Amino acid sequence: MDKLLINGGNALNGELRISGAKNAALPILAGALLSETPVTIGNIPHLHDITTTMELLGRMGVQLTVDEKMNIEVDSSTIDKYEAPYELVKTMRASILVLGPLLSRFGQAYVSLPGGCAIGTRPVDIHLDSLIKMGADIKVESGYIHATAKKLKGCRLVLDKITVTGTENLLMAATLAEGVTIIENAAKEPEVSDLAYFLNKMGAKISGIGTDILEIEGVEKLGVENLHYDIMPDRIETGTYLVAAAITRGKIKVKDTSPDILDAVLDKLKEAGAKITAGENWIELDMEGRQAKAVSLRTAPYPAFPTDMQAQFTALNSVAEGVGIITETVFENRFMHVQELQRMGANIQLESNTAICTGSEALTAAPMMATDLRASASLVLAALVAEGETLVDRIYHIDRGYVHIEEKLAQLGASIRRIPR
Ligand code: EPU
Repeated sequence: MDKLLINGGNALNGELRISGAKNAALPILAGALLSETPVTIGNIPHLHDITTTMELLGRMGVQLTVDEKMNIEVDSSTIDKYEAPYELVKTMRASILVLGPLLSRFGQAYVSLPGGCAIGTRPVDIHLDSLIKMGADIKVESGYIHATAKKLKGCRLVLDKITVTGTENLLMAATLAEGVTIIENAAKEPEVSDLAYFLNKMGAKISGIGTDILEIEGVEKLGVENLHYDIMPDRIETGTYLVAAAITRGKIKVKDTSPDILDAVLDKLKEAGAKITAGENWIELDMEGRQAKAVSLRTAPYPAFPTDMQAQFTALNSVAEGVGIITETVFENRFMHVQELQRMGANIQLESNTAICTGSEALTAAPMMATDLRASASLVLAALVAEGETLVDRIYHIDRGYVHIEEKLAQLGASIRRIPR
């Protein structure tokens, strides 16, 4: 397994290009299953989860053509299997996103049930119950969801809990359903909106995009000749690099991103003492050499503070001035990074879903073990300021969500290198 070797202490400085959003690319690639004509998707990030999705679609018989710019043409006219097997679902929970499109277009889907994961139990009951309300017949047998439907029927769905992939699955299912579907308490994450815009480009009739009530008028079929769709920028990658600059007291400019979808994160960075300036597609953060001030925050669905940025701010608080209280309300077990940060000398007390972080002047390098994607990112951030050399193991988690993290950080002046297995 690859490892990252990081020598802490360099203030990050310079400019960086942000990649396309993983959590928009995954549903959009699944959404391409709904199109009768080939579609080309651009600004796809070069990530492990994308490779897994391509393998998943490829095994169904979908034809994928990738060009040198990582544009992917998806042609689902050759599909002949409607299955997401366990061996792929276990490495990527987002495989559940093929359920809605397969069922809606082909009337059948066999998808392995995703198990628990490092950040919590993560059930898919809302996806399944809502599809049943739309007329699907769903059985769970031997760890697989067996779903069939002659034709899904539009109805009013009030989601018990705000779920991102749940909303996306139902949105895709509803595009080809008979009649109108209304999804209430829908997730408003920008990635859900990106999927909705993509589906509308293919001929879907979705309104209420960006609000918590989505209305979908079912259509007969989807697909437009020569459709090219570019994925939105990754707001979590953007936020992670901004924290990297803040934690090292540096100054960076991130480009090809969007400040509009990062309000809650930028507010907290300002509270931490960062000077932020932004244009339409760039953000600059300058710590003017200062140590960050600890911030308190509470994660919640968009537009509130994202759970996917919680671990990075826990790392920032570890070396900030004062005490910051971080409350995680989205996933029950998303503090795996805390134990590792404590091994570097961080003063963090965990009380149920709250982490009380008392900042210290310095952390010291220690061998680290990555546990999940965002937790791993927080360990890398901590290592950037720790005194000495930190070896972060099991970085395949990071490769699932950050494009060439070592190259991007090195470009900003970090002392970091990948040690191949
Ligand atoms: N939930 C249920 N039942 C369901 C679905 C969800 O109880 O049927 C619960 C979950 O257990 C959780 C909460 O609802 O407590 C929210 O989960 P959600 O369904 O929104 O999460 P997700 O769709 O599985 C996506 C992202 C995650 C991100 C969360 C929250 C993708 C592919 N994944 O997951 O991203 O943390 O939304 O914003 O979009 C990451 O990128 O590192 C990552 C984990």
